[in-house]
This record gives sequence, structure tokens and C-alpha cells, in this order.
Amino acid sequence: MPHNIPKIILDTDPGGDDIFALLWLQSLVKQGLSELVAVTTAGGNVAPEKTFSSASRVLSLGGLAAVEVGRGVAIAKTPDDASHIHGSDGMGNLSAQLPAPVHCYETARYSDEILIDRLTATPGEITVIAIAPLTNLAAAEKKSPGILRNAKEIIIMGGAFHCPGNVTPHAEFNLWFDPAAAEIVLNSRDDLVITSLDVTRRLVFTREMGKAIARSNPTSELSKFLTNLCEFMISTALKYRETDGIEGFLVHDAATLGYLFYPETMRWRRAKVQMETRGEWTKGMTAIDDRNCAKQPANAWIASDVDATRFFTNLIEDLKALNKGSESP
Ligand code: BDR
Ligand code: CA
Repeated sequence: MPHNIPKIILDTDPGGDDIFALLWLQSLVKQGLSELVAVTTAGGNVAPEKTFSSASRVLSLGGLAAVEVGRGVAIAKTPDDASHIHGSDGMGNLSAQLPAPVHCYETARYSDEILIDRLTATPGEITVIAIAPLTNLAAAEKKSPGILRNAKEIIIMGGAFHCPGNVTPHAEFNLWFDPAAAEIVLNSRDDLVITSLDVTRRLVFTREMGKAIARSNPTSELSKFLTNLCEFMISTALKYRETDGIEGFLVHDAATLGYLFYPETMRWRRAKVQMETRGEWTKGMTAIDDRNCAKQPANAWIASDVDATRFFTNLIEDLKALNKGSESP
């Protein structure tokens, strides 16, 4: 295996868009373009027990059931989840259509333990892709100060800089859910990579895209699941007006993989990103200083533009590749 392929820990709270990201990543692993070290689940879109089960089921579906799955660190006061968007199980109420989880929640290691263990064992080698509330990453940093600097890179889906939020007028879901954790992660290093709603709002996955993937292996388990998940996600996206009436849904979390594997699809700028952790109206808001005279040193690269056409071409081709090798019932 070549030495320079990205080794990844995916921190996730499945979620329909998380599932697309996890399947895309599994395709890249199977193509020999990446190594999946672990999937660390978090609470967020739904409760930790459910995100754990979903990650396990989706790893089996994609053929990587041997990958370790971590259970999410609890947060003191859990805010409202996003089951109205993703379904009560976080996977479009389709969990019963997939085989039972092969990982055991009760005996699994906590996600922060896995992060500490893996980042300590191979400093500078692992890329952490964080597509959930940042609870696990912050817990790891609190237990082992400086551990996040051991990551090769940390890529986050979160925040809204020049556009409205999606959970309050000012806040994006992942960072709003656990703003204290987000603050810890934002202070952990100065080269974070952040794909915010400013770009992910442009990533509308349509029914036609889903059909194109399904046609690559019409009878597979994966085709059936993706087709049903698309329909569910489209229905809630239309209900909550997330796509300006376009029949599709936003694959926010997949943007992180677009950056890592197809960097030519995005543009970036430096910024100092700060969290509003309190605020009666602004809790969970991400603030940046856009003035020419801004003096604070930047802590992040934030995505400023995405070529959605190229992004989706890559996503669709990789999901077709996964689907072609996948089994039929
Ligand atoms: C983020 O919030 C979650 O609902 C999605 O899975 C994504 O990670 C988008 O704001
Ligand atoms: Ca997510």
C-alpha cells in the first residue's frame, strides 16, 4: 500500500448526509485511495446509541464492517436533535431494511479514547474528519491537552459565516449543538479546515443523481437503500425549505471529503473563527472578522467557493464504483 494515502478517523452522527459521506469514504478506501482507521460516532442528529448503530450498519453495507466504531461521549444537557430532518433513527427510518449492527455499543470504546489512542500512536499521520457536533474531539483535548495537534489535519463541517444558520437564524447545527466543545476545538490549532453552510448550501443532491448511482447496479442492497434514503431526505428538505424548492437535499458532510480527495473543487481563505457560546439569540454562531484591519491571527482555512458540478461528478462516480462491487440480496 502506498505510504502517502490519507489515514482517516471519521467523527460522525449519522444523519442522511453523514451516510453519504461514509459511503463515499468507503468507496475511496476500496479504491486504495484512503485508509479508514476508525469511525468515532457522536450524539447530534439523533442520540449516541442510534448514531453508533447506523455507522455500524452502513459500514457493513459498504463492506468495511471490520473498522472499529466508537461510542459518542455524552454531553451534560442535550439540545433538540435533528430527527425531524433525518428520521427517528437518523437514517430515514430505514434501519430495519439493513442487517443488524455488527458492533456492540455496550462494549465499544468511547470515541474520545479512540482519538487519543490513535493520535498518540501515530502523531502527524491521521486526518480527522469531523462531521458532527465536536463533543468527542473536545473531550479528547480536555483529557489529553494538545492531542488534537497530533492530527495531520482536522477537517470540520460546521458554521455559517455569511449566510443564515440552519438551526437558528445565526447558528449551524453541528457547532450550535455543543458550542463549548466547538470553542475548545477552534482553539486547538491554527490550521483547521472548515466547510461551512456558505458552501454546503450549494450542494443539492437530486433524485436524478440518486438514480444514476442506482443504475450502476440496479438490484444491489446499496441501490435500494440509497434510493429510499434520497426520497426520505428530499421529503424533509422540501418540508423545511432547505433547497429553495429544488427536489433534492443538502449533502453538507460530504464537502469535507470533496476537499480532501478533490481539492480542485474548492477555494479557500484564512480567517480567525470564534464561537459565540452563550447569547440569547446568537448561541452557536460562528464569528469571523472580515475587516481589512483585522488583527487577530487566523486559526482556520474556511471554504469560500465550491464547484458543485465537479464535486458531484466525483461523488457520483465514486458511489457508482462502490455500488458496482456491492452485493444483491
Ligand atoms: C450538519 O448538521 C447535521 O444535521 C448534518 O448531518 C450536518 O453535519 C449541517 O448543518
Ligand atoms: Ca453530521
